[in-house]
Amino acid sequence: MAFGGLATATLRGRWAEVLVGQQPDLRVNADRINAHLTALAEFGKNPQGGVSRVAYSEFDKAARVVVMDWMRAAKLAPTIDYAGNIIGRRAGQDASLKPLLFGSHIDSVPEGGNFDGNVGSTAAIEVAQTLAEKNLTTRHPIEVVVWQNEEGGLYGSRAVSGQLTPAELKNVSNSGKTIEQGIAFIGGDVAKLDQVRRKKGDIAGYFELHIEQGGTLEKEKIDIGVVEGIVGIKQWNVTVTGFQNHAGTTAMDNRHDALLAAAKFIQMVNRVVTSIPGRQVGTVGKIQAFPGAPNVIPGKVTCTLELRDLDDEKVDTIYEQIGKETKAIGDQNGTEFAFAELHANIAAPSDARMRALIAEAAKGLALSSKVMPSGAGHDAQAMAQLGPMGMIFIPSIGGISHSPKEYSTPKDISNGANVLLRAVLAADRALA
Ligand code: GLV
Ligand code: MN
Ligand code: MN
Repeated sequence: MAFGGLATATLRGRWAEVLVGQQPDLRVNADRINAHLTALAEFGKNPQGGVSRVAYSEFDKAARVVVMDWMRAAKLAPTIDYAGNIIGRRAGQDASLKPLLFGSHIDSVPEGGNFDGNVGSTAAIEVAQTLAEKNLTTRHPIEVVVWQNEEGGLYGSRAVSGQLTPAELKNVSNSGKTIEQGIAFIGGDVAKLDQVRRKKGDIAGYFELHIEQGGTLEKEKIDIGVVEGIVGIKQWNVTVTGFQNHAGTTAMDNRHDALLAAAKFIQMVNRVVTSIPGRQVGTVGKIQAFPGAPNVIPGKVTCTLELRDLDDEKVDTIYEQIGKETKAIGDQNGTEFAFAELHANIAAPSDARMRALIAEAAKGLALSSKVMPSGAGHDAQAMAQLGPMGMIFIPSIGGISHSPKEYSTPKDISNGANVLLRAVLAADRALA
């Protein structure tokens, strides 16, 4: 195809820059993104209309194969790194420059939706394909990344940022496999994990497009969210140990009921988290009583605790308070609580330059935008340890996410992808 009298050859150097500047109509192929989203929705499709495609499941593995095919079509050369991340790379004009990364994830929570992670992953591939089809070569090498096991706790991206600890490899993921087994299952190699680590400055920058997962943008009728920072998240496995006994013959004042203590714990977490002003949140999202029968007083309960805030210190303070009150609950009925930290995602502010590039990209497309925090965790927060990070949000209808009812409109998705395209090109010009 020709453009402005120039023939088709790959446009390099100033030509690429000039032409990008002169192509106000440069747009991604919205139909292709939506076709890819529809195709992804088949992997782990559940009767509720969403997907259960937890990391390291057969569905996850099968979807990754298709994603790699899409990357090849986008002229990215995909490889699986030792942590199991899929990285599609395309060379830039200047091999001395660090790569510009963008991407997201395709694993889901159990009974998840079709948009969390998938929008950012398919849009990132689409941006690369748009550049390839227009014969535009960026200055920086580009790397489109589909991170593994985002939902379990940013395992793929934290391996790259060097935040993943060896002990965490023994954690059991939602697939039932340990992280270690899961990484091997999808083509990684934990023995060589140190080789995937990058240092601060090893990337030119990182962008991620994502659904908001809250209701602010839709409610305020704003097209694009410019993320100012991502919350820190800490999770623990909590074990409550009581005494298993007969539910008919053991008097009410002679019980060490682990489930009763866990119920008080859940109430207390909610009270402590809401007792101070701020946007912090705390959740007990999983619980199991043992042995689990109507006529047996539970002798053991396992549950989780999760705390989030933009300020990591605040999370630590709340955890301390919860610890004190937990002791008091245990003392009431002779039960004991033990906490084992599962993982920690460090809170991360986005980079002011990247925010400006995103806002400018939205403006250039006549889209409204607003700076806002992210209450959800994202691989972008691990990448913020390595270089300037920027995140783009699009509206989530009804503010619903981590649910089969999660939905974003095709228009908002293509808006977000076009903002990503422009922000990538602007960052390619602006970043050293
Ligand atoms: C990831 O989606 C998280 O915020 O838990
Ligand atoms: Mn996500
Ligand atoms: Mn999620």
